[in-house]
Amino acid sequence: MAKEKKAFVCADCGYQSSSYLGKCPQCNSWGTFEEKVLRSSESVVHKTHSAKAEARPISQIQYTESHRFDVKDTEFNRVLGGGLVTGSVVLIGGEPGIGKSTLLLQVALNCNDSKILYVSGEESAEQIKLRQMRMGISSDNCLVMSVTDVDEVIETAKDLMPRMLIVDSVQTMTSRDSDSFAGSITQVRTCADKLIDFAKLYNIPVLLVGHITKEGSLAGPKILEHMVDTVLQFEGDKNYGYRILRSIKNRFGSTNELGIYEMTSYGLTTVDNPSKVLLSQRDEQLSGVSVCAALEGRRTLLIETQALVSPTYYSSPQRISNGFDIRRLNMLLAVLEKKAGVKVSNKDVFLNIAGGLKVNDTSMDLSVLASIISSHQDVNVNNKWCFAAEVGLSGEIRPVPYIDRRLNEAQAMGFEKIFLSKYNKDNLLERYKIQPVLIASVNDLIEQLIK
Ligand code: TYD
Ligand code: MG
Repeated sequence: MAKEKKAFVCADCGYQSSSYLGKCPQCNSWGTFEEKVLRSSESVVHKTHSAKAEARPISQIQYTESHRFDVKDTEFNRVLGGGLVTGSVVLIGGEPGIGKSTLLLQVALNCNDSKILYVSGEESAEQIKLRQMRMGISSDNCLVMSVTDVDEVIETAKDLMPRMLIVDSVQTMTSRDSDSFAGSITQVRTCADKLIDFAKLYNIPVLLVGHITKEGSLAGPKILEHMVDTVLQFEGDKNYGYRILRSIKNRFGSTNELGIYEMTSYGLTTVDNPSKVLLSQRDEQLSGVSVCAALEGRRTLLIETQALVSPTYYSSPQRISNGFDIRRLNMLLAVLEKKAGVKVSNKDVFLNIAGGLKVNDTSMDLSVLASIISSHQDVNVNNKWCFAAEVGLSGEIRPVPYIDRRLNEAQAMGFEKIFLSKYNKDNLLERYKIQPVLIASVNDLIEQLIK
């Protein structure tokens, strides 16, 4: 008989403690400790495997490409790494109202030659029908079920054997094996566990919708992210139509992939050439506007940054940023004031990244700074110019990677000059029609903008 031991276990991350703790020292969650009986040989988090593992030389291991299912959506396929791997479990997170249900129902309807089971614990079948009518696509192979009992979902799925199972959302599911309320950590984990087992056993891919908390993490156990094969995030500013599907974790592909959609009145449409739609249609030159040749994941996006610098009426100036890290904006303003003597500490600064996209590329720095200088000095930035460089704390302009991709995209979009760091000088630049302007400091930038 294995020896039994009692322990308090964090339901979020699996941390074990001999006494009850209010806050988990590992994942900082509150009130997640539960008393558990552990057998000495058992770990609470990891399942024990019955088959004996064997060490083999890596050269003798056979690799077979996993079978992928085409979900009939170029962006979704791309983000998954070339289609949905059969038997894999994908978690799609996003804020309420961002379009997760729309995206998945659309995928289910588009795959009209395969049987897809779409389970919703949030909406009635009539509500789903309403959404389908709005999208204007239909499929006889899309089976809809409104239920919250996960055991019932799995039983139905075993009978139907669909090509794909969609569960919207994992937080609404409950299992008979857990008496916690729906959405609680133990309940979410039990349901996810059952669905994952189903996916692996029957080799049917499962797409799970997961809600995101105010803090931006997936609600429910953090451990959910570790349990599934792929975690995707659907994001965007609700005031704009653009949505980004980002891969955060992918056991079957790169996490550098990005899908771009636009929410229309008849569902989501894929955006194949993002630069074209992100650049506002303008012929006239405006002050406070410049364009960055940014890289998000593997995609080059030409994005407009807009700044407004105006005298402040308050004791401390306002700094408001949309789509750009506010701390980085403050840092750029400090550099501008200290290294180039441009007084901005008595000015309100508003910054906006067009399209409501959040881009995590430091190459945005130079364009943000150009927009600020342009608004501050009231000089226009030529609308055939674009920017791509990082700005350092001493006002130096630092190089960014993948210059060839940025040059290609900027040239294709009709830009004539691109501002880069002088350290980006290499023979590559000569091959392009677009003219590089290599600069070393913030002062060089100001000089170029106001000459
Ligand atoms: P939804 O998919 O319900 O979001 P989630 O499942 O992430 O909570 O989408 C919600 C929003 O999308 C809602 O405000 C309405 C809007 N929408 C459209 O603009 N066009 C459409 O065709 C559909 C179906 C929804
Ligand atoms: Mg929904």
